[in-house]
Amino acid sequence: MNLVHFAHVSKTFNAGTDRAHTVIKDVSFTVENKSGHGEFIGILGPSGCGKSTVLRLIAGLRPHHPATIGVVEVLGGPVRGPGSERGMVFQDYTSFDNRTVLQNVVFGLECAGMAQKEREDRGRVWIEKVGLNVKRDADKFPHQLSGGMRQRVAIARTLILHPKIILMDEPFGALDPATRLNMQDLLVGLWRELEATVFFVTHSVDEAVYLGDRVYIFSPAPGTILHQLDVPPPDRPARVMQREPEFMAISRDISNIIEKLETKVSDS
Ligand SMILES: Nc1ncnc2c1ncn2[C@@H]1O[C@H](COP(=O)(O)OP(=O)(O)OP(=O)(O)O)[C@@H](O)[C@H]1O
Ligand SMILES: [Mg+2]
Repeated sequence: MNLVHFAHVSKTFNAGTDRAHTVIKDVSFTVENKSGHGEFIGILGPSGCGKSTVLRLIAGLRPHHPATIGVVEVLGGPVRGPGSERGMVFQDYTSFDNRTVLQNVVFGLECAGMAQKEREDRGRVWIEKVGLNVKRDADKFPHQLSGGMRQRVAIARTLILHPKIILMDEPFGALDPATRLNMQDLLVGLWRELEATVFFVTHSVDEAVYLGDRVYIFSPAPGTILHQLDVPPPDRPARVMQREPEFMAISRDISNIIEKLETKVSDS
């Protein structure tokens, strides 16, 4: 059984009108469902090529869902809407302002009807897992947190539900370089523990090459997958591995491919 399968998927907004706008075209890929081991897929491509659209199609989120043409399948069946086996972390900080860190982290468990004591016990475990401190941070509100801390809350809120598929849309885009490397290491650790498959959109080639087992490179809009490359897994800390010559060579090759794509966009 496949975990995620796209067959010739296109999305056109306002199809059939004079405002029709095709944002992805003929996207096909397959990620197998391997037991005990999730893949990490980095997604790169020029701005506006449809990367978020692809994540939202996997997540079953409107208005990107449903696809106009083609088949989007998760765990062997067509996607009909959101489901608990898929979790999404967005770029902008999406915590609820009027809830504390703990209340944000346990939100999904609360929706699922879990008793308060049990969900808060689990919530405290996850606060620590993402590198926050229960005593210091659990009762803070989002406006009292830094960007990096807020993104830790968003990650905890999604991963506490143990999704089989984690969709991350430029989650570290707004963080400073040092925090970003720390978050990459944190994510690799959590990913190994959860055995989930991660789809990770980023504009940072280094980030995609470091985190990914595989990298998809999208064409300019309407986006389609031009290249699928296997890259070495992140088996050393981010700041060590990203300075090694072999890593930098892979990163440079991919940057060159993307630069050529972006030049084509600005020429057209
Ligand atoms: N709800 C919508 N209605 C109409 N067009 C949309 C809608 N959402 C997105 N689009 C269009 O779809 C195209 C692809 O958008 P998408 O957000 O998937 O790109 P992206 O690759 O994630 O870009 P970025 O790297 O800038 O985040 C864009 O041209 C965008 O304007
Ligand atoms: Mg996007």
